Amino acid sequence: MDTFFYYKNSLLFCESVSLLELAKKFGTPLFVTSKQSLLEQYHRFEKAFAALNHLTCYSVKANYNLSVIRTLVDAGSGLDVNSEGELYRALNAGASPQKIIMAGVGKTEAEIEYALRQKILMIKAESLSELKLIEKVARRLKIQASVGIRVTPNITAETHPYISTGNADEKFGIDERLMEKTLLAVKKMKFITVSGLEMHIGSKISNPKYYYDATLKLLEVKSLAEKLGIEITHFDIGGGFPVPYHIGEQETPIEEFAKMLVPLLKNIDAKILFEPGRFMVANASVIVSKTLYIKQNENGKKFVIVDAAMNDLIRPALYGSYHEILPIKKKAGKITADIVGPVCESGDFFARAREIGSVQEGDYVAVMSAGAYGYVMSSNYNARPRAAEVMVSGKTVRLARKRETLEQMIQNER
Ligand code: LLP
Repeated sequence: MDTFFYYKNSLLFCESVSLLELAKKFGTPLFVTSKQSLLEQYHRFEKAFAALNHLTCYSVKANYNLSVIRTLVDAGSGLDVNSEGELYRALNAGASPQKIIMAGVGKTEAEIEYALRQKILMIKAESLSELKLIEKVARRLKIQASVGIRVTPNITAETHPYISTGNADEKFGIDERLMEKTLLAVKKMKFITVSGLEMHIGSKISNPKYYYDATLKLLEVKSLAEKLGIEITHFDIGGGFPVPYHIGEQETPIEEFAKMLVPLLKNIDAKILFEPGRFMVANASVIVSKTLYIKQNENGKKFVIVDAAMNDLIRPALYGSYHEILPIKKKAGKITADIVGPVCESGDFFARAREIGSVQEGDYVAVMSAGAYGYVMSSNYNARPRAAEVMVSGKTVRLARKRETLEQMIQNER
């Protein structure tokens, strides 16, 4: 568990603020983010890779709340965005365009134009057709486009199949085996400057060896590019670094990744880019939720029904992912139950047959590690308003997002 969430006198705290107090003040479900946790992760990452000439581009898709982005930007981070919406947020949070890179397997012409007009550090192209479109738009705008090529290194990292992206059988990037053809084609595009090579082999990857192997592949592409007279100034190894989700779990620490990768990356004559998302934010937020009912079936199976649901955090339903569930007020005893939400789906659960600290109806719980791919993947399913978000720094509490209202949910309908 993140050190910024801890028990004091049997009450769960975020930094210097009791989560019980926040639940009562802001209502539930409520995302609570520790600002110091974000900063600690960022600085830890920077320290691990300090030996490299690099720019860390926080991958905004993991948590795009403006307060989160701004915290990391103010600390010095660059940003990785995946859509015009994320680029808009990044710019709104005060990021310098020259520290923003943009990915996306299906960028529209409007998105490409927006990115070019903002003069971001680079657009990462994921197909030959996209390169042609970037060239066309750049020519029309009379802008020299700074482009990175996303290379698929054909390395399949061990992770959930939905978030493994390093193989050309997935939709991402351009197959490394097509690089010569691609680079020769792009060389003829007058309005494109290839300034970078990029890869992203997946998310939540515990074994640094996959990065090592994929980096070797990307290095081959760099040599090829240089042989063809294309100078590569940015070498981007993507995101995907893991964090622990279980209390006491020994997840591979970022320092281990650095130990394996720094000696290899240090000799590369280009600026190294990283795109961590989860690593920065996953353990910085929890969802505080209220226990509405507890019921038991005839076999003795128990259900703890809370007011947060799969529309607030879809990870358990979508990937079968594990999130710790802690009572906000620690009491004697335990309860073994399915922890479920109010949505009309049997897949609406946070945990199944899980033993958690004792809770009764009316008690609050925290669903832990909800900072990455939590709110950003939320929906209005069952016409449930999206939750509120607060950010805590020491004793200070800021409302980072108001709770959505019923009126807001219908305002765009005619
Ligand atoms: N760069 C690119 C191009 C990406 O596609 C992603 C994530 C990242 C960086 C950041 O990866 P991270 O460091 O966060 O692993 N919803 C899933 C994860 C999807 C990841 C999508 N791409 C989950 O909840 O586990």
